[in-house]
Amino acid sequence: MPLNIRTYHDLTEPDRSGLPDQIGAQRRRVAERLATVGRVVAVMSGKGGVGKSFVTAHLARALARAGRAVGVLDADLNGPTAARLLEAPAARLAVREDGVLPALGVEGVKFISMDQLLEDGRPLAFRGPEQESFVWRGAMEAAALREFLGDVVWGTLDLLLIDLPPGMQRFAELADLLGAAPAVLTVTIPTPESRDAVRRAMHAARDRGSELLGVVENMVGGAFRGSAADDLAREFAIPVLGRVPFHPNDAAWQGIVDSALRTPHSAP
Ligand SMILES: Nc1ncnc2c1ncn2[C@@H]1O[C@H](COP(=O)(O)OP(=O)(O)OP(=O)(O)O)[C@@H](O)[C@H]1O
Ligand SMILES: [Mg+2]
Repeated sequence: MPLNIRTYHDLTEPDRSGLPDQIGAQRRRVAERLATVGRVVAVMSGKGGVGKSFVTAHLARALARAGRAVGVLDADLNGPTAARLLEAPAARLAVREDGVLPALGVEGVKFISMDQLLEDGRPLAFRGPEQESFVWRGAMEAAALREFLGDVVWGTLDLLLIDLPPGMQRFAELADLLGAAPAVLTVTIPTPESRDAVRRAMHAARDRGSELLGVVENMVGGAFRGSAADDLAREFAIPVLGRVPFHPNDAAWQGIVDSALRTPHSAP
């Protein structure tokens, strides 16, 4: 075994590794790094391909244009998109004594993404035994998120948006590392299929203790039919923060930022 990972049986014996202390130390480290961040908001849908990353990056850009200090943490470790969406594919991280400085995207949005760490076009790969590599991959991804949260020196931010991959696994890891479930902004497309998948994710987030800030309906005005955003807003008693058409202009994003800032719960 290349790594010293303990089994359940180890944990039921008297704890010699100080695991609870390690977890406490990790959380403290994350809390210290985020002490200068006004608010952490996870962008989530549970469903793939509905535009989480697109909405995250463009909202961050619109907030930056409105004078807010904004960061994006791209928690999609296998399919990072933040660098391209923030028009800084070649941006590099700077490693300092006290931590890692985030990359700088368009309009001054700070970001961290696996794009900055992976070799061009290569997937996140576990360099270890081929057998059971699927087991190690999960552990490695959780470790990468922990490093992003524990190592990046964001400086003073009004808002840190965390772009989640589809599914709820990364959300659970994030909540563990933060010590509490983050506030959540959900993205859906208008269809009933998207609504149902997003609803499940929202229930899971709320059960975990997340504040649900509102829902953004993406890809409206095209072929997709349905009332997913209105349905979810009614069911969870949250606002529809905006409806995003295909290929939106800056004004469309500005409208969403204005309504999000007017909504008392979601003001960053
Ligand atoms: N409103 C829009 N207008 C035009 N293109 C869009 C819009 N929203 C998303 N897209 C495009 O649709 C594709 C999927 O969007 P995106 O990657 O943001 O989805 P996602 O929910 O983050 O996906 P994943 O679940 O894989 O993380 C991308 O190519 C993106 O540029
Ligand atoms: Mg994405």
